[in-house]
Amino acid sequence: MKVSSTEFLKSAFQESDWPKDAKPEIAFLGRSNVGKSSLINSLLMVRGLARTSSTPGRTQSLNFFAINERFRFVDLPGFGYARVPQNIKSTWGDMVTGYLAKRPQLVLSIHIVDSRHEPTKQDLQLHEWLEESNKPRLTVATKSDKLSNNELRKNLGRIARVLNVDSVMAYSAKSGRGREELWRAIKSAIDR
Ligand code: GTP
Ligand code: MG
Repeated sequence: MKVSSTEFLKSAFQESDWPKDAKPEIAFLGRSNVGKSSLINSLLMVRGLARTSSTPGRTQSLNFFAINERFRFVDLPGFGYARVPQNIKSTWGDMVTGYLAKRPQLVLSIHIVDSRHEPTKQDLQLHEWLEESNKPRLTVATKSDKLSNNELRKNLGRIARVLNVDSVMAYSAKSGRGREELWRAIKSAIDR
């Protein structure tokens, strides 16, 4: 995919803020600090378009990015960050599940996990939720640069088993590993 333009559109805290036109959207989901925003920047080969941080809980609203004026990426708040107060936590959950349930523009949900770790209970919940909602989804294991090839192969297998999926795509925002493959999946979701 040739990316000719990227633009931060808006940060949405409520449904009325979501863009109104019918352009297709790709959603990036996963635990706090797993590397969602970094993955978006790496796909687009830009720095700092999606805000990243070493502190979990950086992304706290739905962030919409326009790509080539043709489709959008949606950076969603991470889940599972223990230090966020309960009331805010449930607002986040509502924001994310509300978006996933109600958005006809959503053509692909990319579930991002950490390639080093076993998926958590919340990863499983999200995965099952996506399965039940019957929407196209994909599992991507990022930070693969932190593992040897051997460990990575083992972990990808384990993640696939735990989540009960056919395949898990390896990614690294640091090295760009997996970028081409992920773009192919995104492109075919948009063209579908
Ligand atoms: P929240 O918005 O808080 O949910 O986090 P996020 O999932 O958007 O994570 P973010 O992209 O902010 O990255 C979290 C931390 O992981 C940052 O310190 C990144 O530099 C680091 N990181 C992200 N992706 C990679 C990767 O592929 N490799 C390495 N080595 N570090 C990464
Ligand atoms: Mg983020």
